[in-house]
Amino acid sequence: MSTQTKIYEGKAKILYTTNDSKILLADYKDDATAFNAQKRGSIQGKGSMNCTISSKLFQQLEACGIKTHYIDSPAPHQMRVKALKILPLEIVVRNIAAGSLCQQTGLELGTVLKQPLVEFYYKNDQLQDPLLTRDRLFLLELATPEQVDTMTHLALQINKCLCDFFGRCDITLVDFKLEFGLDSQQQLLLADEISPDTCRLWDNSKGSDPNLRILDKDRFRRDLGNVENAYQEVLQRVLKAVKSN
Ligand code: TMP
Ligand code: ASP
Repeated sequence: MSTQTKIYEGKAKILYTTNDSKILLADYKDDATAFNAQKRGSIQGKGSMNCTISSKLFQQLEACGIKTHYIDSPAPHQMRVKALKILPLEIVVRNIAAGSLCQQTGLELGTVLKQPLVEFYYKNDQLQDPLLTRDRLFLLELATPEQVDTMTHLALQINKCLCDFFGRCDITLVDFKLEFGLDSQQQLLLADEISPDTCRLWDNSKGSDPNLRILDKDRFRRDLGNVENAYQEVLQRVLKAVKSN
């Protein structure tokens, strides 16, 4: 008999304990939020689509030599993951200027960056996830210098692996957000999810205007419509690319 106790409910997932204290069950929800939950809604089928996309991407990353919390997916909207101590950091990797980078620097939407940009944000809803400087990160003791170096290195490796994979889906990986956690040996593993909720994904088959290429949560954030269709399109292309591996 399985004993499942809810231990955490986030904006997109619920975490349950399992019979094994080293394993948690993540249940992906259809709920969608944006702008630190000021905007709320639901995307039909999102839980299953994001869980499946995330599962496939974690498997791709494992094949690239990246250690992740992923174990398996017992149902389309459920993922078994290793229980980790999650660091309160959001690591954003950017290849092309969009979103807050454009708002805060004046860079034009769609500007290709000369090299990927890795940024650390403080995962704290009350403070609205502020961008951290290296000194502020250490001031708050959110990670050690070694951990920051390791996460930066892993984030760049993950970017390479994912850019290559999404390229095979005819999709450009504009930017994405990662979270890491520590296992019992203090080893850093990639955690959370990688999905259209946490990435900007632009369709390569839709010309050059960035606003006509969006296949991710920006469709929800900016009320662009066809949100479910965009997530479904990403899912289908991911499944096709995995099949042709
Ligand atoms: P930003 O341009 O709004 O800073 O977002 C950068 C990337 O991080 C984008 O792919 C969306 C993702 N992201 C999250 O996954 N969660 C968040 O809370 C935010 C603000 C962004
Ligand atoms: N993390 C954001 C929120 O709190 C969602 C987003 O913009 O991706 O609602």
